[in-house]
Amino acid sequence: MKEVLALVEQRKQEFAQLPFFKFLQDKSIDPRQRLAWAPCLAPFAMGFALLNKDDFRKEPTDDPLQEIINRHTYEDDHHWEWFLEDLEKLGLNHSMKFSDAMRFFWGEETYKTRLVCHQIALHTFRAEPIVVLAAIEAIEATGNVVLALTAQIAQELQQITKQKYRYFGAHHFRVEIGHATGTDDVEQVLESIQLTKEQKTQAFEVVEKVFDVFTESINELMTYAEHHPIIQDLKAS
Ligand SMILES: [Fe+2]
Repeated sequence: MKEVLALVEQRKQEFAQLPFFKFLQDKSIDPRQRLAWAPCLAPFAMGFALLNKDDFRKEPTDDPLQEIINRHTYEDDHHWEWFLEDLEKLGLNHSMKFSDAMRFFWGEETYKTRLVCHQIALHTFRAEPIVVLAAIEAIEATGNVVLALTAQIAQELQQITKQKYRYFGAHHFRVEIGHATGTDDVEQVLESIQLTKEQKTQAFEVVEKVFDVFTESINELMTYAEHHPIIQDLKAS
């Protein structure tokens, strides 16, 4: 598993170089504008609960690796509540007709983000727990990059609005440790596992896939934020 974790680390470094992350750090841009893409994250933020509960979690189990997965899913299956809370605090909880909300949710601007959980579910369907754990490590690595930077923006915003942002802020960043949660020394546990050739191939594939789908989603969020000036949106609402 050591090589798989090394690939996760390598892809994480590459992922962190995407233009979106420079945008998040650009203090010449209003912090709310740097989070203007937040509504587009809805398909992921909401769908991630299902991915954890219905796809990753398998109970009961006597497989110690599946146990690690199950414990992890209990942390990650309820963060969508923090997401909805933050939308309100960010002034992005606009009223709209149900059909317009559906058009947005199922529309072109959120297409790549909508695919994230779906693609991960497809690529981990009936996979061995060790392959699912490789996917989880990749997911957590991407989350770590994003949340480290949104936490800084939330901090800037907090000074202005005196609000705490549980999804985009430090709270979520602290909970998401960048690895599977709920198991002590999980990295060492995973590193010591010897994979068969077939498991290694599948784990490499799933790691690449996870980073690919998140990369496309991140680029989509960037495009949305560039084309939707938030001040105008706030005036329009
Ligand atoms: Fe989370």
